[in-house]
Amino acid sequence: MGLRSVQVASSISSAVVEVTSFDLDPAILTRLDLLQARDETTFRHSQAVAELMAAFARHLMMEPDSIRLLGLAGLLHDIGKTELSIAVLDKPGRLTANEMAHMRSHPARGHRFLSQFGSVPDVVLDICLHHHERLDGTGYPDRLAGAEISLPVRIATICDVYDALVSPRQYRPAWTPKDTADWMLQADGFFDPDLLRQFLHLVSTK
Ligand SMILES: [Fe+2]
Ligand SMILES: [Fe+2]
Repeated sequence: MGLRSVQVASSISSAVVEVTSFDLDPAILTRLDLLQARDETTFRHSQAVAELMAAFARHLMMEPDSIRLLGLAGLLHDIGKTELSIAVLDKPGRLTANEMAHMRSHPARGHRFLSQFGSVPDVVLDICLHHHERLDGTGYPDRLAGAEISLPVRIATICDVYDALVSPRQYRPAWTPKDTADWMLQADGFFDPDLLRQFLHLVSTK
């Protein structure tokens, strides 16, 4: 299935993100096709994060343009994983220090790729580079903290971790929504607490 016809439609709101509605360079769509072909898990995760981000933005009563942009950012946030080794992406066991460093290079790789094109909005670039930052400064790649982390990135980190935990992985089964919510609420310093409460309320009512 070609990415050009894919719609990301949320089941928890009427938010719809259609990649073809953005003036994106064809090379970006080709890269999304590549992600789907070589790393189905990350591709599905990206679609799910796009849905969650668009739905959460709608829940926060953001403007329609912002909702669409956050959906697009969700779809592209892990695009840098197309440059990672399949052996590392698919490794079932614990990663070595070198493999972890390789894995953690995906935000910068994605940001570098997307920055080549003048067509990618700043908020999408910000989310791509910073979606693994944590409010307490323990994230990567830039160890941003507190107010250095933008609202769109705070939204992205919540949606990204939530979907990762409620989805099965090679090395563990899917967590239940309840276990995921409990873990995120006690992960002190990771997430914006006010946004997290609102997000968990949204997904608990879907
Ligand atoms: Fe990521
Ligand atoms: Fe992700």
